[in-house]
Amino acid sequence: MERLVEIERFDSEESGSELSLRPDAWSEYIGQEQIKKNLGVFIEASKKRDEALDHVLFYGPPGLGKTTLALIIANEMNANIKVTAAPMIEKSGDLAAILTNLEVGDILFIDEIHRLSPAVEEILYSSMEDFRIDIIIGSGPAAQTVKIDLPRFTLIGATTRAGMLSNPLRDRFGMSFRMNFYSSEELSKIISQASNKLDKEIIRDAALEIAKRSRGTPRIALRLLRRVRDFADVANELDIQHSRTKFALNELGINSLGFDEMDLKLLKLLASAKGRAMGLSTIAASLSEDEGTVEDVLEPYLLANGYLERTAKGRRATRATYDVLNIDFINEDGTLF
Ligand SMILES: Nc1ncnc2c1ncn2[C@@H]1O[C@H](COP(=O)(O)OP(=O)(O)O)[C@@H](O)[C@H]1O
Ligand SMILES: [Mg+2]
Repeated sequence: MERLVEIERFDSEESGSELSLRPDAWSEYIGQEQIKKNLGVFIEASKKRDEALDHVLFYGPPGLGKTTLALIIANEMNANIKVTAAPMIEKSGDLAAILTNLEVGDILFIDEIHRLSPAVEEILYSSMEDFRIDIIIGSGPAAQTVKIDLPRFTLIGATTRAGMLSNPLRDRFGMSFRMNFYSSEELSKIISQASNKLDKEIIRDAALEIAKRSRGTPRIALRLLRRVRDFADVANELDIQHSRTKFALNELGINSLGFDEMDLKLLKLLASAKGRAMGLSTIAASLSEDEGTVEDVLEPYLLANGYLERTAKGRRATRATYDVLNIDFINEDGTLF
């Protein structure tokens, strides 16, 4: 079955369907109230001073609106934004080329910024701090260092793994924001708004039904909305009704908590350890996923909602894990709860 969450690739950002539903103004950006409030102040202040905004870091699980925020900031600042992703910047020369092409006030958005190579990161330090880079030209005894001044620009970084950023890089961001999962009410607003844009009415209860099954994640909510809309269209339903929505979601294999097959596989695996903790590498191997995907994509929502626990020894099932799987709770010593 297709995963509903995945680590986005750079090109998926540009592919049409998601772009058309992407809010480009604050008014359409639902939730994350604290982030919006703070950013609003910093944007206004820098506009008043006619200065570029300080460097910004967004971190949190995929699909929570990091890229969208970067685009909204650019819009608010009336700035040009250059969008790239760390895996596309292979050599320090690649980054130098990007940086030297920026103009005053431009925004450079680097997605998956934890994946920069050390050599590239090095270049980024001086460019973020001093707006200058040192480039070595030639090699051997004839090598020369050339200093190049850069225009005052804003770097916006996004990452699913703040823990993997080096300290020097993290310290150079003037502000960093952790993205939160969305409430069902917020997601249902996002769904209704998107539905409007798709020219298809959605009944309130239907929007809430999708919201509740979207793992707190707008990207999943919008994906499910499109699928449910397909079911409604095929059935010649004018509006998206609640019963059709429930039917469609069940057909798609999404349970009432929004867990898909992979979530359930992980939870069952943890439950099978009978209360003992299980290491990340064991989990990844058992699920045939890489550790990064387990940590960045699968775990955060389960963790945030108490369906698994992280201990020094590894991951453990919780009471809620057993409840959701509808099996008896087993204590550390193997006895029933
Ligand atoms: N707060 C929000 N309000 C409305 N739509 C949102 C919001 N956050 C995300 N979205 C939508 O969800 C999708 C994924 O958002 P995106 O910014 O690409 O997430 P991320 O970069 O964190 O992976 C986009 O289509 C965007 O339109
Ligand atoms: Mg993104």
